[in-house]
Formats: sequence, C-alpha cells, structure tokens
Amino acid sequence: MIEKLNEIKKLAIEEINSCDSEAMINNAKSKYIGKKSVFSEIMAGMSSLSVDEKREVGKVSNEVRNEITDALNEKLKNIKQDELNKKLLEDKIDITLPSKKLKMGSLHPLTEVRHEIEDLFISMGYDVVDGPEVETDMYCFEMLNLPKDHPARDAQDSFYINDEMLLRTQTSSVQIRSMLANKEKKPFKLICPGKTYRRDDDDATHSHQFSQIEGLVVGENVSLSDLKGTLELFAKKMFGENREIRFRASFFPFTEPSYEVDVSCFNCDKKGCNICKGTGWIEILGCGMVHPNVLENCGFDHTKYQGFAFGVGIERVASLKYGVTNIRDYFTNDYRFLANFDRKEI
Ligand code: DAH
Repeated sequence: MIEKLNEIKKLAIEEINSCDSEAMINNAKSKYIGKKSVFSEIMAGMSSLSVDEKREVGKVSNEVRNEITDALNEKLKNIKQDELNKKLLEDKIDITLPSKKLKMGSLHPLTEVRHEIEDLFISMGYDVVDGPEVETDMYCFEMLNLPKDHPARDAQDSFYINDEMLLRTQTSSVQIRSMLANKEKKPFKLICPGKTYRRDDDDATHSHQFSQIEGLVVGENVSLSDLKGTLELFAKKMFGENREIRFRASFFPFTEPSYEVDVSCFNCDKKGCNICKGTGWIEILGCGMVHPNVLENCGFDHTKYQGFAFGVGIERVASLKYGVTNIRDYFTNDYRFLANFDRKEI
C-alpha cells in the first residue's frame, strides 16, 4: 500500500507540474485526492489492515496527501500570478501623449567657434583675458607704433567718441594693456577674444561690428618658429589634421617682421576651387614678431625680450568652417539661420 501511495504521489506531482490552467489543477485534484480518486480507493482498503499497519499507512497517506495538496496550491498560485501578469501586460494603457516640442536654445556659432579656439589655447597654457571695447587712442594705436598721423590708420576707419576715445578697431589694444600689466610676470602667453568696430559700409563680407581673437606671447628666446608651430596647430585644430599653412610677408606697424597666414584649402586640398578662389590657399590671420618699439613702449628691453602676436577674425573662421557666405547672418538673429547650429528639440 505504501508503495502504491508513493507511486500516486509521483504521478500526481508530475501531472501537477505540467498543468497550465486552473481547470487542469482542479482535474488533477479530483483525480488524485478527490472523493473518487485512486487515493480514496486505497484509503477505503485500510479497514482490512492490522492496527500497526493502519498506523504506518495512515502516516504515509497523510504525508502523501499533504504533499499533493501543497503542490496543487503552489502550482495554482503560480498559474494565477502568471495569468494576472499576462492580463496586466495586455491591459496596459499608454497614458503618454506626444508632447509639444520645446525648442532648446544653443550657443551662437560665433560663441561656439570662440570656445573652440579658447579651449585650444588654454590647453597650451595661455590665459584668456578681456579688454574694454571703448578704448583710448593711445592703446589702440599710438603705443602699437601707429602715431596720430600714421597712414596705416586709414585701413581702420574708426568710431571716435572724442579725440582720445574710440570703439576699438582691433583687439591688438589688449597687447598693450597686457604688457603693461605683466611687466613683473614674464614669460606670459595670452589670448584676448572680443568685439571690434570699424566704420564700414556693411555688405556680405563687411560689418561695422565683428570679433577677433588676439594672441600674444612675450618672454626670452621667443622666436618665429614658435609662432609658426603655434599657428600650424591652430590651423589643424580648426580646419583639419591635413592642413598646411604658409606665411606671406606683410605689414603691420606693431610687428616686425609681419605676415599674413594662409591655410591650405580644406575643400579642394590645394587643387583650387571657388572657396579658395582657385588659389588652393585661404587667408586666415595676421601675425608677426612684436615690434621692438612696442616692447619698449611698454617697458620691455627689446634686446632681452621678444614676443609674437597674431590676430584672427572669428567670423572669418566660423564662415569658413560652416560655409556662411553673408556675415550679416551672424547678427540678424534669424531663426532659420541659427537653427542650423545644433538647435535641439526636446
Ligand atoms: N590687428 C590686426 C587687424 O585687425 C590683426 C593683427 C595682425 C593682429 C598682426 C596681430 C598681429 O596681433 O601681430 O588687422
């Protein structure tokens, strides 16, 4: 009898495990422990047993019944949970609605380019300094080796506020301010980004307001090759690793020698295209070795100290990078233009 009971238990557990509905569980229940089950039949045969046998069989039958009941309950619980999970999944209501898109602002392309240039020079140990947009004639011109009657002033028609004050025409004025401020701290390396103003008839390539980044390094043993290396790095960072630069002799009153620097055309790689006007090269900045007069004007012994300086137009760099053909686009704040620069929707 005991063997039979164990056999029933085995069969029952197997069947219970394969059930996957409440109805199947109910079937298994009546089949194995219900009134008309095999189990009941065995129990009915108990009366013919001795007292000891009854005790023995009774114990095992209780255990078997309990185990089958536990298995049934456990399985039923699992089946109900699975059904509930399935129902919850099927009944899931999507309460989200596509939202109205919010337009996120982004940095102005000129700011973006300025940051990029600043990051590069900061990584080379340069300070980023500021200077006033309303400047003295003395700092903007005179101390930069452009006395009052110097013909080179004609190239920078200016907005004068009175005889001695004007809106700065170039960030080069900050060279003077920095040299005066850094007499005790040599060597020094700095860049100065900022707005500049010239009287100009505005058109696609001229604006009465624009922005420049001035660079200045002063110390002992500063050479032209330092300037070349620095500007080559700048050109590669801004216009691509394969760029080359070339120096063309030029004239600026505050540098000697002076150069204009061209970068090999990023569009045609020197073959000649409409961006480089067929020459393969694009002019990007002016530079040179700080003129001895300028060093002396600021109290530096030019036989001991040298410097290099450069000035870059931010609009020029941005226009080349982004293919902007009308400088006015930077200032009119037309959303259709600005939206081209990483404006995100959320
Ligand atoms: N200030 C010059 C300009 O606005 C650009 C420039 C040329 C800056 C040579 C410099 C330099 O520092 O060395 O046209």
